[in-house]
Amino acid sequence: MSQRKVKQAEEMVNWNLVFPNQANPSGNMFGGDVLAIMDTTAAMAAKRFSENQVSTVTVEAVHFAKPIMVGDNIKTTAKVVAVGKTSMIVKCDVYRDDQRGGLLKCVSAFLTFVAFDYQRQPTLVPQLDLSEEDKEAHQMALVIKESAKKRAEEFSKI
Ligand SMILES: CC(C)(COP(=O)(O)OP(=O)(O)OC[C@H]1O[C@@H](n2cnc3c(N)ncnc32)[C@H](O)[C@@H]1OP(=O)(O)O)[C@@H](O)C(=O)NCCC(=O)NCCS
Repeated sequence: MSQRKVKQAEEMVNWNLVFPNQANPSGNMFGGDVLAIMDTTAAMAAKRFSENQVSTVTVEAVHFAKPIMVGDNIKTTAKVVAVGKTSMIVKCDVYRDDQRGGLLKCVSAFLTFVAFDYQRQPTLVPQLDLSEEDKEAHQMALVIKESAKKRAEEFSKI
């Protein structure tokens, strides 16, 4: 039987400038547009880690903590912090650049992806060699996964 590869996760980083068509009349960036950037960046992190195609399965614990405005430079980071057999949980954060060398965290979420082989069947992902700095996010991801599973079970009954 072939062994699962063990590897470290790589952080994906993506910069965007916020345009008026991504915002409401007050100049506040739409949540859906932020989520689209987060989904893409997180998918890239999951794809790089799994070395396969991926699909989003869940987006959990989304928190729009601070507003993002038209004209802001925003930095999105994404990294695999937990894995199952075929699934990966990616922590994704969006920061606003204050133009003075500082970054303010505005949005955060945990996204789950499943890896697919070329027959579009869920396929094994490598095991994660977890870094010290990601241990807290890993624990948080496991708690979120557990509560999401329970909620999905409950929702399937209604
Ligand atoms: C992804 C998909 C194939 C999973 O189907 P499924 O029948 O649940 O498959 P499985 O039961 O084999 O589960 C596969 C993995 O997904 C995980 N998973 C499934 N539902 C989940 C949920 N609600 N929350 C967290 N993980 C979930 C399972 O735990 C399993 O992970 P593991 O192998 O690490 O243990 C299916 O849900 C799908 O195709 N969804 C649509 C995806 C999509 O269109 N996304 C948007 C565009 S990218």
